[in-house]
Amino acid sequence: MEVPYIDLTLQHRSIREELLEAVGAVLDSGQFILGPRVTEFEAKAAELCGSRFAIGVNSGTDALVLALKALGVGPGVEVITAPNSFLASASAIVAVGGVPRFADVAHDLNIDPEKIEATITKKTKAIIPVHLTGRPARMHEIMDIANEHGLAVVEDCAQAINATLDRKKVGSFGDMGAFSLHPLKNLNACGDAGFITTDDPDMHQTLRQLRNIGLKNRDQSDIWGANSRLDEIHAAMLLVKLRHLPGWEAKRRENAKFYHEALHGVTEAPTDGPGMKSVYHTYIIQADRRDELSAFLADKGISSKIHYPIPIHMQTASKAYGFRQGMYPVCESQLKRILSIPIYPELTEAQLAHVSDTIVQFYRGGK
Ligand SMILES: Cc1ncc(COP(=O)(O)O)c(C=O)c1O
Repeated sequence: MEVPYIDLTLQHRSIREELLEAVGAVLDSGQFILGPRVTEFEAKAAELCGSRFAIGVNSGTDALVLALKALGVGPGVEVITAPNSFLASASAIVAVGGVPRFADVAHDLNIDPEKIEATITKKTKAIIPVHLTGRPARMHEIMDIANEHGLAVVEDCAQAINATLDRKKVGSFGDMGAFSLHPLKNLNACGDAGFITTDDPDMHQTLRQLRNIGLKNRDQSDIWGANSRLDEIHAAMLLVKLRHLPGWEAKRRENAKFYHEALHGVTEAPTDGPGMKSVYHTYIIQADRRDELSAFLADKGISSKIHYPIPIHMQTASKAYGFRQGMYPVCESQLKRILSIPIYPELTEAQLAHVSDTIVQFYRGGK
């Protein structure tokens, strides 16, 4: 039996007519930039995320970049994030001229609040906690540290739309939440897209201008911005997909529960922490003999991935900031063990069982 790591054609096959109708309506309207569907999507995204405002932008990376710009992060300003995230969490800091700093992660793959304080200097202005895998970072502790040191917080919610901690949505703890709508994310556009959440009316106004060349109305600007708008055609399709998100999310959570129960006592398989609702963008087990397991799975038709094979501080580009291997031991020890197994909503029961049975066979069968 084949189990691909992901197959987006399955999702689109199931809602093809709805999507085509939504796209057709945009074509017929002749309105492609900042039209009514972007406005409607922003209102619904804000409501979903428990924030006052949402601002549609052209990617999750730009969501981070614009959030940092809105905070005034510029040359020489330090921003702390996690070394095991997708590169964009740090590249956004560099893109505005800032300096990335890292705090090591904890066992749950999220930034360890206990490692943050030692990383704060006089130049630190913000923290970007990442809700990696769709699991909320320890936001109460992070917010306490940020408040004590007068730091801003931009939550990287790219993988975690609709995840909650103590019933509060990710993206509503900090000053801003940066969301990706990349095709592989839980809520996914058919191309690049993203949005930013905030409760602050001034920040909201600044972000709206920053994503639209700095313009505050059709002709006037008082700040400089870029072209980072969410397209109307993406918004139309996202409005369709928003209706399906609860069902897809429930299926991801069911799949995660299935794996957690099936792999109990076999390998380290994640589950929700106390007070958390994780949305399982990825399902990362921490496995002994990971490379052998991954090869064994491949042999049985199951595709797995490593998120991410090169931590940010070990990228060649990071050498310019003095980072090197050995600096973040927890992240580096997890690097040898992490393995993402298929978790998407369209997986069949037979496929799920094939994945977990094969992992059990690998460890219990003495492979
Ligand atoms: C944790 C994280 N941050 C940021 C991004 C960047 O989002 P995008 O690809 O939409 O630019 C991604 C996803 O790609 C991500 O997984």
